[in-house]
Amino acid sequence: MCGIIGYVGPRATDTVLLAGLWKLEYRGYDSSGIAVVSDNEIRIKKAIGKLKVLADILDKEPLSGSVGIGHTRWATHGEPSPENAHPQVDCSNTIAVVHNGIIENYLSLKEKLIKKKHIFRSFTDSEVIPHLIEKYYTGDLVQAVRRAMDDIEGSYAFAVISTKEPDKIICCKKDVPLIIGIGKGENLISSDTLAVLGLTRKIILLEDYEIGVLTRDKVSIFDKDGKEVERKPSTVNGKALTADMGKFPHFMLKEIYEQPVVIQKNMERMIKHEEFFSLKKFDLSISDGELAKITRVIIQACGTSWHAGYVGKYILEKFCRVHTEIDISSEFRYRNPVLSGETLVMAISQSGETADTIAGIRESKLAFLRVLSLVNVMGSTIARESDDVIYIHAGPEIGVASTKAYTSQLIALHLFSLYFSKLKWLIEEEELHSKLREIELIPEKMQQILDKSNEIVEIARKFHRARNFIFLGRGVNYPSALEGALKLKEISYIHATGYPAGEMKHGPIALIDEHLPVVCVSTKSSVYEKMLSNMQEVKARRGKIIAIATEGDKKIKELADEVFYIPECPESLSPILVALPLQLLAYHIAVLRGLDVDKPRNLAKSVTVE
Ligand code: AGP
Repeated sequence: MCGIIGYVGPRATDTVLLAGLWKLEYRGYDSSGIAVVSDNEIRIKKAIGKLKVLADILDKEPLSGSVGIGHTRWATHGEPSPENAHPQVDCSNTIAVVHNGIIENYLSLKEKLIKKKHIFRSFTDSEVIPHLIEKYYTGDLVQAVRRAMDDIEGSYAFAVISTKEPDKIICCKKDVPLIIGIGKGENLISSDTLAVLGLTRKIILLEDYEIGVLTRDKVSIFDKDGKEVERKPSTVNGKALTADMGKFPHFMLKEIYEQPVVIQKNMERMIKHEEFFSLKKFDLSISDGELAKITRVIIQACGTSWHAGYVGKYILEKFCRVHTEIDISSEFRYRNPVLSGETLVMAISQSGETADTIAGIRESKLAFLRVLSLVNVMGSTIARESDDVIYIHAGPEIGVASTKAYTSQLIALHLFSLYFSKLKWLIEEEELHSKLREIELIPEKMQQILDKSNEIVEIARKFHRARNFIFLGRGVNYPSALEGALKLKEISYIHATGYPAGEMKHGPIALIDEHLPVVCVSTKSSVYEKMLSNMQEVKARRGKIIAIATEGDKKIKELADEVFYIPECPESLSPILVALPLQLLAYHIAVLRGLDVDKPRNLAKSVTVE
């Protein structure tokens, strides 16, 4: 949930660190800070709030030195304050550390260190790290870091600089991402590749328990036994990774508008155009024969990815006739699930770094189950720890609210389900051809929706002052209701609930009155008439209905106060189209409320702690 960066080289250290922190800010922005070694001193600047506050300070008071580290924080322990901002230091201010993760045994470590007269200045868990290194330092910083690692329980990626060995950065990790960027006469560490792209595309992914030692001209990596290991750097495709806002006012809006192109490219990657449309083979280590034997799928994910998985449940059960469970990862990992038989566990994650989803994968592998993951970020922890990965190729998604990754997950789930269904002899060539034809029409239909987004702006204008919203859906669009509610609440801070429409009469209907906007996903479907009845129930209690409906549906106007029409499409594909007006509604309401759409309060793009 935090972003860490380190630099050793000839350039202006604070400038390089700040440039990296700008690329990492989406990971957390409660506070930020940098530390450098300069004239045998550790010098530090910190700031509360968004990174711009630190940038303004450094503008006035630059901070350069031989080596430096930086941090942008999403608070886990200790509120955002100058004391709790990183970097954190030891008693004598000769060791500085930036940390991403959670140290679960920090209280017991802190008590022992205080008994040994260590002076603590913060309420953070991270502050135990520099004090442990100080305690163990007897002339070899790497050894001291190794001993500190042995004491720590939990997850961590941290970087250390010290006046004791002023020309190097030492870094290590466990369960949290950390990369090393290899430059010419300069080297970097970072939480993710985006932050080092400005200086290098040659990177090494540090593995758990390894220690990296960086000087200007050398990078050494030691395994958990202290033995030096050779690691060949990989070269990242910088173009695929760079992200800028272009003409858009926010990354979120840019990413909403990128969806037709992203989906189009994904289809071109997977759909073969011959006499019949067919699917290219998925590049999986599980054989088609093994896959065909799978009788149960467990999908585990968080947030928007969980909503995508929920749609996946409907699709897999409809097309593949396999029993499909959908689990929230933080529940899955602790509920001692029954994991046996011909079961495939599917993890869905945009970032590939969500701690709970990683834990779910590890739980599944302990039960010797195959794990297939849908991931956006290449080389992420989930990608590396799964038996198979289907990359969704959505490109970098910077806005904290997930949009293009969600619809890319849905398309990937559709294509995989059709592939899986074919392996099970449940779909004929002609039927597969017509389903793929329908999928091929989606990007154009998405564009039609985006072209009339002004209608959503009008609806947002009418309802942006509401204090509560309810989103209702049925069947494959019940997850759409959940997703619409999440989008709204996470960027507009309006309380919003997604609900199965048929469930309203069992209690929540008590909430309906003339002040409550109710978004109803009422597109043509096998449960359309049922949705109309639910809308009647809402109308009878003077609820304000905003309907997402299918073009040509006149009946809906008799019930709804506002109607946004989407193009006709098969029921199973409708969540992909429905997502767009719901994303735009949340976006425009948040803008009208004057909020920071790309970096909403209390949130971060990647939840790498549990
Ligand atoms: C979605 O808009 C949120 N940003 C959040 O719920 C997110 O989907 C969730 O944290 C899961 O992230 P992941 O897909 O990277 O695992």
